[in-house]
Amino acid sequence: MATTKITKEQWAESDGYLARLREENANFASAYGRPRYAHTETYGCQQNVNDTERIRGMLKRAGFEFTDDAEKADLVIYNTCAVRENAEQRVFGRLGILKHIKEQRPGMLVAVCGCMVQQEHITEKIKKVHDHVDLIFGTHALWRMPELLYRAIHENGVVVDITDSDGAIAEDVPILRDKDEKAWVSVMYGCNNFCTYCIVPYVRGRERSREPEDIMAEIRCLVKSGTTEISLLGQNVNSYGKDLGLDIDFADLLRMVNDIEGVRRIRFMTSHPKDLSDKLIYTIRDCDKVCKQLHLPLQSGSNKILKQMNRHYTREQYLEKIEKIKREIPGITLTTDIIVGFPTETTEDFYETLDILKAVRYDSIFSFIYSRRVGTPAAKLDFVLKDEEIHRNFDEMLEVQNQICKEKNLEYEGRVETVLVDGVSKTDKNLMTGRTDGGKIVNFRGTPDMQGKYIDILITHAKQWSLEGEIAK
Ligand code: 5AD
Ligand code: SF4
Repeated sequence: MATTKITKEQWAESDGYLARLREENANFASAYGRPRYAHTETYGCQQNVNDTERIRGMLKRAGFEFTDDAEKADLVIYNTCAVRENAEQRVFGRLGILKHIKEQRPGMLVAVCGCMVQQEHITEKIKKVHDHVDLIFGTHALWRMPELLYRAIHENGVVVDITDSDGAIAEDVPILRDKDEKAWVSVMYGCNNFCTYCIVPYVRGRERSREPEDIMAEIRCLVKSGTTEISLLGQNVNSYGKDLGLDIDFADLLRMVNDIEGVRRIRFMTSHPKDLSDKLIYTIRDCDKVCKQLHLPLQSGSNKILKQMNRHYTREQYLEKIEKIKREIPGITLTTDIIVGFPTETTEDFYETLDILKAVRYDSIFSFIYSRRVGTPAAKLDFVLKDEEIHRNFDEMLEVQNQICKEKNLEYEGRVETVLVDGVSKTDKNLMTGRTDGGKIVNFRGTPDMQGKYIDILITHAKQWSLEGEIAK
């Protein structure tokens, strides 16, 4: 099935609502002597961060200004995540607090969007329990936000759009990014893999790729405004292009980005191990701008669990790929995702995962306790382990991995690494912070004007989660 695009006419209609809002916001500003303020909060993955950038792009075009303080905002938008229950609970918690704030400021508008509300049972719950919410829209309705917002301002009662549309791609939605030097660029949306624990395919729809010219045009535009690091984004970038019928795969796309003058670093995520080709490994190796870093989610090291997760690879096949990657690209930084406590996981299965952590020695891992998601196949399975046992396993895994992280970081002491400076460190205002080619965080004594620059840093001290260094002579 070919991927369709939102037409220029469809977007023009949406944009028309932004123009109406702009006019209203200008009238508001003259009447009250201040602009209308919007506040956005993002939960979950980079895809959501990228979606929020689009929401902010539209809001800016509609004449809103932004505030970090929800209490001062005229419009609050939560862009939500459905991957695990705790992310959903945090949003419900925030909505509870907002109810009291809105009682003091009745003109305030509250919107909830993203993956969480793409699930019908959640939207029903919000409508029932949180009647102060004015607007609910799902992932497919993002480009229709202008009209929905306009209606929410002018109609009584909650406006809801969680239709699961055809998954068409909207290219014209404006994007407002926080940083100049680094940018996330979506190359595809959705996921076809249906891992049995995961809600993503249900809330984000089927895989659809952006056309290469659209991606290139976006990157060229970013480079013009000073961006040098591009992170390509998709739930499974390794199946990029399959729906386009163009004979261009993700490795080809990486090469095309590598050829763009002005791009200095290229990162990407996420790769599914089953689709990681030799061609991609060679492309990472051979393209000078592609960072030597790979995030390759393992999820579990037990063949039994991998099968029940519908992951389509065995531990042996995974390890073979890792071996090949390490052989072809020595020193590459490796990271992964692990789920502990999948319903049928026994402690023996868990130890097989731990074995792989010890064998691969990842630079870092993102580990999660399994969270039951309504509507996924795994939600029907009974648990083998008790909660305490799952938590004990989880803690044991962190202990093993912490030690590996520290040891891997120690290997950096004495090396000089080129760091793209992100800005002032959040934990110590006297330090600047940045990342190496491999994605390691480096803190060093520098000046704020270094933000956005590439600086050589001599690594002097390895910590658990970061490196410390000084500007190399
Ligand atoms: N419970 C716990 N972790 C999950 N992930 C996806 N679904 C679940 C779930 N139901 C994790 C996977 C995935 C990462 C983004 O989130 O490890 O790679
Ligand atoms: Fe979820 Fe699996 Fe798709 Fe990743 S590949 S988004 S874990 S279904």
